[in-house]
Amino acid sequence: MQVRVASGDIATYDAPCIVVHLFEGITAPGGGTGAVDAALGGMISDLIQSGDIRGKDGELTMIHTFGKLAAPRVLVAGLGKSSEFTVDKVRDLSASIARHLRAKRVAEYATIAHGAGIAGLDPAACAEATAEGTLLGLYRFDRHKKANDDNFEVQTLTIVEHDAGRVAALQAAAERGVILAESVEFARDLSNEPGNILTPTEFAARAEAMATQHGLGVRILDRDQVGEMGMGAFLGVARGSAQPPRFIVLTYNGGVDSKPLGLIGKGITFDTGGISIKPSEAMLEMKGDMSGGGAVIAAMMAIARLRPKINVTALVPATENMPGGNAIKPTDVLRAMNGKTIEVINTDAEGRVILADALSYAVQLDLSPVVDVATLTGAISIALGNVAFGVFANNDALAERIKGAAKAAGEKCWELPMFSEYKELNKSNVADVKNSGARGAGSIAAAFFLKEFVDERPWAHLDIAGVDFYDAEKGVLTKGASGIPVRTLVNLALDLAERPI
Ligand code: BES
Ligand code: MN
Ligand code: ZN
Repeated sequence: MQVRVASGDIATYDAPCIVVHLFEGITAPGGGTGAVDAALGGMISDLIQSGDIRGKDGELTMIHTFGKLAAPRVLVAGLGKSSEFTVDKVRDLSASIARHLRAKRVAEYATIAHGAGIAGLDPAACAEATAEGTLLGLYRFDRHKKANDDNFEVQTLTIVEHDAGRVAALQAAAERGVILAESVEFARDLSNEPGNILTPTEFAARAEAMATQHGLGVRILDRDQVGEMGMGAFLGVARGSAQPPRFIVLTYNGGVDSKPLGLIGKGITFDTGGISIKPSEAMLEMKGDMSGGGAVIAAMMAIARLRPKINVTALVPATENMPGGNAIKPTDVLRAMNGKTIEVINTDAEGRVILADALSYAVQLDLSPVVDVATLTGAISIALGNVAFGVFANNDALAERIKGAAKAAGEKCWELPMFSEYKELNKSNVADVKNSGARGAGSIAAAFFLKEFVDERPWAHLDIAGVDFYDAEKGVLTKGASGIPVRTLVNLALDLAERPI
């Protein structure tokens, strides 16, 4: 769909539907809503008076104008209390409005920018959030369904701005929102795709096609190439699968002379657990076990389009985790690229094993800082539920920058401790480290395992296992893959470009 910004007066704007808004407690609406109310002969005020419209957060009221306005319909969106209104709410509300109007078969609508009036938010930030939220809310994954009546799509959203001098800035902001949303859509498509279609080969092919389209450098390494590089851990996991593994390398050159930011993503295209096989129920989300890899690849797409002055390299080891005849067994020992040996206690703790090689490679390439993203542990959703992803870091400055980037994106995260006492959890009797241990502190143990492979450089690990899939729509989240933390990663790259650590 298309998002545009036009200068004009919402009350006289000619579109199949116009969207205005109302904060809770307002009885005499002003701004664009007031102008529309006046043109409707006070209809909105009357509905407020009668208690039909209260301005509650998420309340949507459709009014038919029967010739009183150029637009045949007005949707009044409740914004809740103006003191509690935020840019995050603009995103979520824009998503709900978009789904509501799509269900009503409205192909085209115009809106005033929510939040820029009495809530006092930055108008450009509101325009960006409106565009972003609208696209994210309308996302659906239906490519494997035959076409039916439900395939109706919204074609155009116009943000109407009364101050002509502001249009260019709002247009630029809306375009940024579209770029971010489209990269999230790309990540969601990759994660929603079933494992029989998104094999490691197909995953790499889609990354390569995107890279070529957006001018990124790309190298796809095969089994022999990573074998020569010494990636015994990654290849150990790949051994159980009939599908050949792929190691995806994307590079963005922002024209500066500094170490590239490393974005590393877990790319398990399906996680059966391997020989330590998962129960059937637990496998149903495992087509999304490449969501970390998908997120870093998708973030590279937005970075390529936004062109920050920073170099970025993305590394994604991609393989299935399968219990084939050649699969690794519990207690097998593997050797990672940096020379450290790993005792595989549980073949279902495969993410940290493939990341061992990806992080070793990041060190060899001298990437800094390094941020990895992985659906790593079920334990993180015991700690944080599906609300926030976990952040682990060996560097406080980097952790703070990630939290700031996440906050700006409206993606929630929470830092967990890296107290040195936890390091013991990965002690092995036969190898340098083991991949699974006691029951407690599972997510922290996994983070400590990864830390073994980053060689003390600034590093952070994002455990997204609780937030990668949702079973209901809510605000910008739709059913299935969330695309979290694509926007956090993009914000981080933009921020590091401005202010390196
Ligand atoms: N991919 C899973 C983690 C996961 C669980 C992601 C639920 C999304 C939803 C990971 O490979 C895994 O199986 N982890 C094990 C580790 C354990 C064996 C130490 C887990 O969390 O049970
Ligand atoms: Mn697993
Ligand atoms: Zn996994």
